[in-house]
Amino acid sequence: MAQHQKKISRIGIYTSGGDAPGMNAAIRAVVRVAHSMNIEVMGISQGYIGLIENRVAPLNIRDVANIIQRGGTILKTGRSTDFHKPEVRARSIETLKTHNIDGLICVGGDGSFRGAHALWNEHKIPIVGIPGTIDNDIFGSDLTIGFDTAVNTALDAIDKIRDTADSHDRVFIVEVMGRNSGFIACHVGLAGGAEEIFVPDGNTNIEKSIDRIKDSIKKGKRSSILITAEGQKPGRAYDLADAIRKKSGIDPKICILGHIQRGGSPTSVDRVLASRMGAAAIDNLSKGFCDILIGSDGPNLLQVPFELATTKEKRSPLEYVQLSQILAI
Ligand code: F6P
Repeated sequence: MAQHQKKISRIGIYTSGGDAPGMNAAIRAVVRVAHSMNIEVMGISQGYIGLIENRVAPLNIRDVANIIQRGGTILKTGRSTDFHKPEVRARSIETLKTHNIDGLICVGGDGSFRGAHALWNEHKIPIVGIPGTIDNDIFGSDLTIGFDTAVNTALDAIDKIRDTADSHDRVFIVEVMGRNSGFIACHVGLAGGAEEIFVPDGNTNIEKSIDRIKDSIKKGKRSSILITAEGQKPGRAYDLADAIRKKSGIDPKICILGHIQRGGSPTSVDRVLASRMGAAAIDNLSKGFCDILIGSDGPNLLQVPFELATTKEKRSPLEYVQLSQILAI
Protein backbone atom coordinates (compact mmCIF):
# COMPACT_ATOMS: atom_id res chain seq x y z
CA MET A 1 0.00 0.00 0.00
CA ALA A 2 1.16 3.51 -0.77
CA GLN A 3 0.56 6.84 0.92
CA HIS A 4 0.26 10.29 -0.62
CA GLN A 5 0.67 13.74 0.93
CA LYS A 6 -1.95 15.63 -1.08
CA LYS A 7 -4.78 17.51 0.54
CA ILE A 8 -7.82 16.13 -1.26
CA SER A 9 -10.24 18.93 -2.18
CA ARG A 10 -11.56 17.62 -5.49
CA ILE A 11 -11.66 14.07 -6.79
CA GLY A 12 -12.63 12.36 -10.03
CA ILE A 13 -14.63 9.15 -10.20
CA TYR A 14 -14.99 6.78 -13.17
CA THR A 15 -16.46 3.36 -13.89
CA SER A 16 -14.46 1.12 -16.18
CA GLY A 17 -14.62 -2.33 -17.84
CA GLY A 18 -17.87 -4.31 -17.91
CA ASP A 19 -20.71 -2.56 -16.10
CA ALA A 20 -22.05 -4.23 -12.96
CA PRO A 21 -25.31 -3.70 -11.05
CA GLY A 22 -24.47 -1.62 -7.99
CA MET A 23 -21.97 0.69 -9.70
CA ASN A 24 -24.52 3.52 -9.42
CA ALA A 25 -24.93 2.87 -5.70
CA ALA A 26 -21.12 3.20 -5.35
CA ILE A 27 -21.08 6.50 -7.29
CA ARG A 28 -23.90 7.82 -5.10
CA ALA A 29 -22.03 6.88 -1.91
CA VAL A 30 -18.78 8.47 -3.06
CA VAL A 31 -20.49 11.73 -4.07
CA ARG A 32 -22.53 12.06 -0.89
CA VAL A 33 -19.81 11.04 1.58
CA ALA A 34 -17.38 13.37 -0.24
CA HIS A 35 -19.94 16.17 0.10
CA SER A 36 -20.11 15.57 3.85
CA MET A 37 -16.31 16.02 3.94
CA ASN A 38 -16.34 19.19 1.79
CA ILE A 39 -14.69 17.37 -1.11
CA GLU A 40 -15.91 18.14 -4.63
CA VAL A 41 -16.51 15.31 -7.09
CA MET A 42 -16.07 15.32 -10.87
CA GLY A 43 -17.59 12.50 -12.93
CA ILE A 44 -15.34 11.12 -15.67
CA SER A 45 -17.36 9.54 -18.44
CA GLN A 46 -16.64 6.16 -20.12
CA GLY A 47 -13.74 5.14 -17.88
CA TYR A 48 -10.24 5.71 -19.26
CA ILE A 49 -11.69 6.96 -22.55
CA GLY A 50 -13.12 9.98 -20.71
CA LEU A 51 -9.81 10.56 -18.96
CA ILE A 52 -7.94 10.58 -22.28
CA GLU A 53 -10.56 12.67 -24.08
CA ASN A 54 -11.36 15.10 -21.23
CA ARG A 55 -14.99 14.08 -20.75
CA VAL A 56 -15.46 15.45 -17.26
CA ALA A 57 -18.36 17.18 -15.50
CA PRO A 58 -19.19 18.04 -11.88
CA LEU A 59 -21.24 15.49 -9.94
CA ASN A 60 -23.38 17.07 -7.28
CA ILE A 61 -25.48 15.48 -4.57
CA ARG A 62 -28.69 15.86 -6.63
CA ASP A 63 -27.04 14.34 -9.74
CA VAL A 64 -26.92 10.99 -7.93
CA ALA A 65 -30.53 11.06 -6.72
CA ASN A 66 -32.73 8.11 -7.63
CA ILE A 67 -29.91 5.91 -8.95
CA ILE A 68 -29.30 3.47 -6.07
CA GLN A 69 -31.83 1.05 -7.60
CA ARG A 70 -30.62 1.37 -11.22
CA GLY A 71 -28.37 -1.13 -13.01
CA GLY A 72 -25.65 -0.01 -15.43
CA THR A 73 -23.65 3.12 -14.69
CA ILE A 74 -24.71 6.76 -15.09
CA LEU A 75 -21.07 7.58 -15.87
CA LYS A 76 -21.01 5.08 -18.75
CA THR A 77 -18.06 2.73 -19.06
CA GLY A 78 -15.56 1.53 -21.60
CA ARG A 79 -12.60 -0.73 -22.31
CA SER A 80 -9.67 1.34 -23.57
CA THR A 81 -6.79 -0.56 -25.20
CA ASP A 82 -5.15 2.83 -25.86
CA PHE A 83 -4.69 3.31 -22.14
CA HIS A 84 -2.26 0.34 -22.17
CA LYS A 85 0.27 2.73 -23.76
CA PRO A 86 2.40 4.83 -21.36
CA GLU A 87 2.32 7.86 -23.71
CA VAL A 88 -1.51 7.83 -23.68
CA ARG A 89 -1.54 7.58 -19.88
CA ALA A 90 0.83 10.57 -19.74
CA ARG A 91 -1.55 12.54 -21.96
CA SER A 92 -4.52 11.73 -19.74
CA ILE A 93 -2.81 13.51 -16.82
CA GLU A 94 -3.57 16.80 -18.60
CA THR A 95 -7.28 16.18 -17.98
CA LEU A 96 -6.64 15.92 -14.25
CA LYS A 97 -4.59 19.14 -14.27
CA THR A 98 -7.26 20.99 -16.28
CA HIS A 99 -9.90 20.20 -13.66
CA ASN A 100 -7.65 20.48 -10.57
CA ILE A 101 -8.39 16.87 -9.63
CA ASP A 102 -6.28 15.75 -6.65
CA GLY A 103 -7.14 12.04 -6.65
CA LEU A 104 -9.27 9.40 -8.32
CA ILE A 105 -11.73 6.66 -7.44
CA CYS A 106 -11.93 3.84 -9.96
CA VAL A 107 -14.87 1.41 -9.96
CA GLY A 108 -14.06 -1.63 -12.09
CA GLY A 109 -12.28 -4.95 -12.45
CA ASP A 110 -8.70 -6.15 -12.69
CA GLY A 111 -7.96 -4.48 -16.07
CA SER A 112 -9.14 -1.15 -14.66
CA PHE A 113 -6.95 -1.57 -11.58
CA ARG A 114 -3.90 -2.31 -13.74
CA GLY A 115 -4.45 1.09 -15.38
CA ALA A 116 -4.89 2.73 -11.97
CA HIS A 117 -1.72 1.09 -10.61
CA ALA A 118 0.22 2.36 -13.64
CA LEU A 119 -1.06 5.93 -13.06
CA TRP A 120 0.25 5.81 -9.50
CA ASN A 121 3.60 4.26 -10.49
CA GLU A 122 4.25 6.60 -13.40
CA HIS A 123 2.63 9.88 -12.31
CA LYS A 124 1.94 9.54 -8.59
CA ILE A 125 -1.81 10.08 -9.04
CA PRO A 126 -3.47 8.87 -5.82
CA ILE A 127 -6.19 6.35 -6.67
CA VAL A 128 -8.43 4.08 -4.62
CA GLY A 129 -10.36 1.28 -6.33
CA ILE A 130 -13.80 -0.21 -5.73
CA PRO A 131 -14.22 -3.74 -7.13
CA GLY A 132 -17.18 -3.68 -9.51
CA THR A 133 -17.51 -6.71 -11.77
CA ILE A 134 -20.09 -9.46 -12.03
CA ASP A 135 -17.23 -11.99 -12.33
CA ASN A 136 -16.20 -11.77 -8.64
CA ASP A 137 -12.63 -12.46 -9.71
CA ILE A 138 -10.70 -9.81 -7.78
CA PHE A 139 -8.02 -11.30 -5.56
CA GLY A 140 -8.21 -9.98 -1.98
CA SER A 141 -11.96 -9.36 -1.96
CA ASP A 142 -14.40 -12.16 -1.26
CA LEU A 143 -17.16 -10.20 -3.03
CA THR A 144 -17.32 -7.72 -5.88
CA ILE A 145 -20.20 -5.34 -6.65
CA GLY A 146 -22.62 -6.88 -9.15
CA PHE A 147 -21.86 -10.53 -8.51
CA ASP A 148 -24.84 -11.20 -6.25
CA THR A 149 -27.26 -9.58 -8.71
CA ALA A 150 -25.80 -11.48 -11.68
CA VAL A 151 -26.05 -14.79 -9.81
CA ASN A 152 -29.69 -14.13 -8.92
CA THR A 153 -30.52 -13.09 -12.50
CA ALA A 154 -28.94 -16.28 -13.86
CA LEU A 155 -30.60 -18.38 -11.19
CA ASP A 156 -34.02 -17.03 -12.07
CA ALA A 157 -33.44 -18.07 -15.70
CA ILE A 158 -32.15 -21.51 -14.70
CA ASP A 159 -35.20 -22.16 -12.51
CA LYS A 160 -37.38 -21.41 -15.55
CA ILE A 161 -35.31 -23.64 -17.79
CA ARG A 162 -35.68 -26.44 -15.24
CA ASP A 163 -39.48 -26.31 -15.65
CA THR A 164 -39.28 -26.99 -19.37
CA ALA A 165 -36.36 -29.44 -19.03
CA ASP A 166 -38.44 -31.45 -16.58
CA SER A 167 -41.60 -31.32 -18.73
CA HIS A 168 -39.75 -32.67 -21.79
CA ASP A 169 -37.24 -34.95 -20.04
CA ARG A 170 -34.35 -32.97 -21.54
CA VAL A 171 -30.73 -32.23 -20.80
CA PHE A 172 -29.90 -28.49 -20.95
CA ILE A 173 -26.54 -26.78 -21.11
CA VAL A 174 -26.73 -23.25 -19.71
CA GLU A 175 -23.78 -20.97 -20.41
CA VAL A 176 -23.16 -18.18 -17.90
CA MET A 177 -20.66 -15.30 -17.99
CA GLY A 178 -17.12 -15.49 -16.70
CA ARG A 179 -14.33 -15.08 -19.22
CA ASN A 180 -11.57 -16.32 -16.94
CA SER A 181 -13.64 -17.04 -13.93
CA GLY A 182 -16.01 -19.74 -12.73
CA PHE A 183 -17.60 -17.89 -9.82
CA ILE A 184 -21.00 -17.30 -11.40
CA ALA A 185 -21.04 -20.87 -12.75
CA CYS A 186 -20.16 -22.39 -9.35
CA HIS A 187 -22.70 -20.33 -7.43
CA VAL A 188 -25.65 -20.74 -9.81
CA GLY A 189 -24.74 -24.39 -10.30
CA LEU A 190 -24.89 -25.16 -6.60
CA ALA A 191 -27.90 -22.90 -5.95
CA GLY A 192 -29.77 -24.18 -9.01
CA GLY A 193 -29.22 -27.88 -8.32
CA ALA A 194 -27.10 -28.41 -11.46
CA GLU A 195 -25.89 -31.91 -12.28
CA GLU A 196 -22.53 -30.74 -13.69
CA ILE A 197 -20.55 -27.47 -13.56
CA PHE A 198 -17.75 -26.67 -16.04
CA VAL A 199 -15.37 -23.82 -15.14
CA PRO A 200 -12.21 -22.39 -16.76
CA ASP A 201 -9.94 -23.26 -13.84
CA GLY A 202 -11.50 -26.65 -13.04
CA ASN A 203 -10.31 -30.07 -14.14
CA THR A 204 -12.98 -30.75 -16.73
CA ASN A 205 -13.34 -34.37 -17.70
CA ILE A 206 -16.19 -34.56 -20.20
CA GLU A 207 -16.03 -38.39 -20.38
CA LYS A 208 -16.61 -38.69 -16.65
CA SER A 209 -19.42 -36.12 -16.78
CA ILE A 210 -21.12 -38.05 -19.59
CA ASP A 211 -20.76 -41.29 -17.61
CA ARG A 212 -22.44 -39.64 -14.62
CA ILE A 213 -25.30 -38.29 -16.77
CA LYS A 214 -25.85 -41.71 -18.42
CA ASP A 215 -25.72 -43.39 -15.05
CA SER A 216 -28.30 -40.97 -13.60
CA ILE A 217 -30.63 -41.67 -16.56
CA LYS A 218 -30.31 -45.43 -15.86
CA LYS A 219 -31.25 -44.72 -12.24
CA GLY A 220 -34.42 -42.90 -13.30
CA LYS A 221 -33.38 -39.25 -13.64
CA ARG A 222 -35.28 -37.70 -16.56
CA SER A 223 -33.80 -34.22 -16.92
CA SER A 224 -30.51 -32.49 -16.13
CA ILE A 225 -29.06 -29.00 -16.10
CA LEU A 226 -25.37 -28.58 -16.89
CA ILE A 227 -23.79 -25.17 -16.24
CA THR A 228 -20.76 -23.96 -18.14
CA ALA A 229 -18.82 -20.72 -17.77
CA GLU A 230 -18.15 -18.91 -21.05
CA GLY A 231 -14.40 -19.16 -20.47
CA GLN A 232 -14.52 -22.95 -20.09
CA LYS A 233 -11.76 -24.60 -22.14
CA PRO A 234 -11.84 -26.48 -24.40
CA GLY A 235 -15.03 -25.18 -25.90
CA ARG A 236 -18.13 -23.44 -24.69
CA ALA A 237 -21.78 -24.54 -24.67
CA TYR A 238 -21.95 -25.56 -28.36
CA ASP A 239 -18.70 -27.60 -28.21
CA LEU A 240 -19.79 -29.25 -25.00
CA ALA A 241 -23.14 -30.17 -26.59
CA ASP A 242 -21.34 -31.63 -29.64
CA ALA A 243 -19.08 -33.74 -27.43
CA ILE A 244 -22.06 -35.01 -25.43
CA ARG A 245 -24.01 -35.82 -28.63
CA LYS A 246 -21.08 -37.73 -30.15
CA LYS A 247 -20.24 -39.70 -27.04
CA SER A 248 -23.67 -40.44 -25.64
CA GLY A 249 -26.46 -39.95 -28.14
CA ILE A 250 -28.07 -37.48 -25.72
CA ASP A 251 -29.15 -34.31 -27.54
CA PRO A 252 -28.72 -31.39 -25.13
CA LYS A 253 -30.53 -28.08 -25.63
CA ILE A 254 -28.46 -24.95 -25.23
CA CYS A 255 -29.21 -21.64 -23.54
CA ILE A 256 -26.62 -18.84 -23.44
CA LEU A 257 -27.63 -16.26 -20.86
CA GLY A 258 -25.13 -13.61 -22.03
CA HIS A 259 -25.40 -9.93 -21.18
CA ILE A 260 -28.76 -10.28 -19.46
CA GLN A 261 -26.58 -11.12 -16.43
CA ARG A 262 -24.98 -7.68 -16.47
CA GLY A 263 -28.18 -5.65 -16.23
CA GLY A 264 -31.05 -5.16 -13.83
CA SER A 265 -31.71 -3.57 -10.50
CA PRO A 266 -29.01 -4.45 -7.94
CA THR A 267 -29.90 -6.75 -5.04
CA SER A 268 -29.76 -5.43 -1.49
CA VAL A 269 -26.43 -7.25 -1.04
CA ASP A 270 -24.91 -5.27 -3.92
CA ARG A 271 -26.44 -1.95 -2.86
CA VAL A 272 -25.15 -2.31 0.70
CA LEU A 273 -21.70 -3.47 -0.44
CA ALA A 274 -21.44 -0.61 -2.95
CA SER A 275 -22.53 1.99 -0.39
CA ARG A 276 -20.02 0.74 2.19
CA MET A 277 -17.17 0.44 -0.30
CA GLY A 278 -17.90 3.88 -1.77
CA ALA A 279 -17.77 5.46 1.68
CA ALA A 280 -14.56 3.59 2.56
CA ALA A 281 -12.90 4.59 -0.73
CA ILE A 282 -13.32 8.34 -0.21
CA ASP A 283 -12.37 7.99 3.45
CA ASN A 284 -9.12 6.18 2.54
CA LEU A 285 -8.23 8.62 -0.23
CA SER A 286 -8.76 11.65 2.01
CA LYS A 287 -6.62 10.08 4.77
CA GLY A 288 -3.66 9.66 2.40
CA PHE A 289 -4.01 5.98 1.45
CA CYS A 290 -3.84 5.05 -2.22
CA ASP A 291 -2.76 2.44 -4.78
CA ILE A 292 -5.28 0.14 -3.10
CA LEU A 293 -8.76 -1.18 -3.61
CA ILE A 294 -11.38 -1.64 -0.94
CA GLY A 295 -11.92 -5.37 -0.51
CA SER A 296 -14.44 -7.27 1.56
CA ASP A 297 -13.67 -10.05 3.99
CA GLY A 298 -16.95 -11.30 5.41
CA PRO A 299 -18.44 -8.37 7.35
CA ASN A 300 -15.21 -6.34 7.21
CA LEU A 301 -13.75 -4.03 4.60
CA LEU A 302 -10.02 -4.01 4.03
CA GLN A 303 -7.28 -2.34 1.99
CA VAL A 304 -5.90 -4.52 -0.80
CA PRO A 305 -2.83 -3.21 -2.71
CA PHE A 306 -3.41 -2.95 -6.47
CA GLU A 307 -0.12 -4.80 -6.95
CA LEU A 308 -1.53 -7.85 -5.15
CA ALA A 309 -5.00 -7.72 -6.70
CA THR A 310 -3.63 -7.49 -10.23
CA THR A 311 -0.96 -10.16 -10.00
CA LYS A 312 -2.64 -12.92 -7.99
CA GLU A 313 -5.40 -15.14 -9.27
CA LYS A 314 -8.60 -15.72 -7.32
CA ARG A 315 -9.54 -19.35 -7.87
CA SER A 316 -13.15 -20.44 -8.39
CA PRO A 317 -14.68 -22.40 -5.49
CA LEU A 318 -14.12 -25.82 -7.06
CA GLU A 319 -15.52 -27.55 -3.98
CA TYR A 320 -18.95 -26.34 -5.22
CA VAL A 321 -18.46 -28.45 -8.37
CA GLN A 322 -18.00 -31.65 -6.37
CA LEU A 323 -20.76 -30.79 -3.91
CA SER A 324 -23.19 -30.17 -6.79
CA GLN A 325 -22.42 -33.63 -8.18
CA ILE A 326 -23.05 -35.26 -4.82
CA LEU A 327 -26.28 -33.34 -4.24
CA ALA A 328 -27.61 -34.00 -7.75
CA ILE A 329 -27.81 -37.80 -7.45
O1 F6P B 1 -17.50 -7.78 -16.94
C1 F6P B 1 -17.17 -9.10 -16.97
C2 F6P B 1 -17.75 -9.74 -18.20
O2 F6P B 1 -19.17 -9.70 -18.14
C3 F6P B 1 -17.26 -11.14 -18.43
O3 F6P B 1 -17.96 -12.10 -17.68
C4 F6P B 1 -17.44 -11.28 -19.91
O4 F6P B 1 -16.54 -12.22 -20.43
C5 F6P B 1 -17.11 -9.93 -20.41
O5 F6P B 1 -17.37 -9.03 -19.36
C6 F6P B 1 -17.85 -9.52 -21.65
O6 F6P B 1 -17.42 -8.25 -22.01
P1 F6P B 1 -18.05 -7.38 -23.18
O7 F6P B 1 -19.42 -6.98 -22.75
O8 F6P B 1 -17.13 -6.24 -23.33
O9 F6P B 1 -18.11 -8.28 -24.37
